[in-house]
Amino acid sequence: MRTSAETSDVLVVGGGIIGLVTAWRSAQQGLSTTLADPDPGGGAAQVAAGMLAAVTELHYGEQMLLGLNVASAARYPAFVAELEEASGQETGFRACGTLSVALDSDDRAHLRELHALQQRSGLVSEWLSGRECRRLEPMLAPGVRGGLRVDGDHQVDPRRLASALVTACERAGVVLRRTWAQRLTVTGGRATGAVLADGTELAAGQVVLAGGSLSGRLQGVPEAVVPPVRPVKGQVLRLTVPPAYAPFLSRTVRAVVRGGQVYLVPRANGELVVGATSEELGWDTTVTAGGVYELLRDAHELMPGITELPLTETRAGLRPASPDNAPLLGPTALPGLLLATGHHRNGVLLTPVTGEVMAHVLTTGEVPELGRPFSPRRFAPVTGSPETSRTASPEYTTPAPLEQPV
Ligand code: GLY
Repeated sequence: MRTSAETSDVLVVGGGIIGLVTAWRSAQQGLSTTLADPDPGGGAAQVAAGMLAAVTELHYGEQMLLGLNVASAARYPAFVAELEEASGQETGFRACGTLSVALDSDDRAHLRELHALQQRSGLVSEWLSGRECRRLEPMLAPGVRGGLRVDGDHQVDPRRLASALVTACERAGVVLRRTWAQRLTVTGGRATGAVLADGTELAAGQVVLAGGSLSGRLQGVPEAVVPPVRPVKGQVLRLTVPPAYAPFLSRTVRAVVRGGQVYLVPRANGELVVGATSEELGWDTTVTAGGVYELLRDAHELMPGITELPLTETRAGLRPASPDNAPLLGPTALPGLLLATGHHRNGVLLTPVTGEVMAHVLTTGEVPELGRPFSPRRFAPVTGSPETSRTASPEYTTPAPLEQPV
């Protein structure tokens, strides 16, 4: 049974950290804001390690994304200070830096290439010998062949970040509807709200689809503007460093081992996060013996003492990946429908800048300079009409049938 419509200026569909920051910033701008999600603050942030790795996760061909990543990293200290003040909660932000190390000559060659790319990109990183790496982090394996010291790549605790954002939203007057958004409402060629799983109709001047890896599955979205987002599974482990072993690590340590990324992120409270696999398996979130084995094997090569630590949690989450690994921010070709999704490996890092870009668009209708390269329209049909089908970019794949609501 449907109940009568509730109206707000902005409806955010999806309550992960990207939806939450969008709703918080929107409400701060004086827009009446509703957010729909059965579990606000859940999702990928409950699994993510929280590295703010603008420099150490630089990849060839992602120069455009680099600018956004660096801009967001620079905003982090002020962002967490404001959020902690607004929520009365700590976020676990830690300005600890990162060390990327090489375990063999192939890894070292790879890291040397990354160092050269970082330098060409104007980023700050310092090459260290194996001995210098071990002087910084004595628990590293004796065989470490060299590394890159990146003092600007910090970390935050995504679980605390999400919790603080929920509270900040509530305090800013965001209405949290703790249920699925089932279907986008489109009236007269414009997005005008959504129908929730409980039958409630929510009307809104603007709808922001921020459903993470599920963003492509909201019913009622015209095919031409369905976000080209797919899930990329990441398995992550959590260990605990007993006080007698502390400090086990003083900064994030990462490496490429046999072509796979492994990173160890030490929290101030003794938690040690080890991640992450990268698997194209649809919406599967099974933790597998193979995934856990590979992470522990690679982490053990990097830091043999890790096998002494209690293993306290294993979990898998889904990164929302776009065809070019960059987020989709701003208006779509369907008036009234905006996207804030597709952040792939950088959702935690890009939280501050996403909130800023989305608040600007929602209040002015204009995408700020910083956000312009990330328009969802870069994957849009050649004809401007959202009623027409999409001209696929080579990597684009149509999302699965719209069965599970966001
Ligand atoms: N940014 C780390 C990961 O996605 O695994």
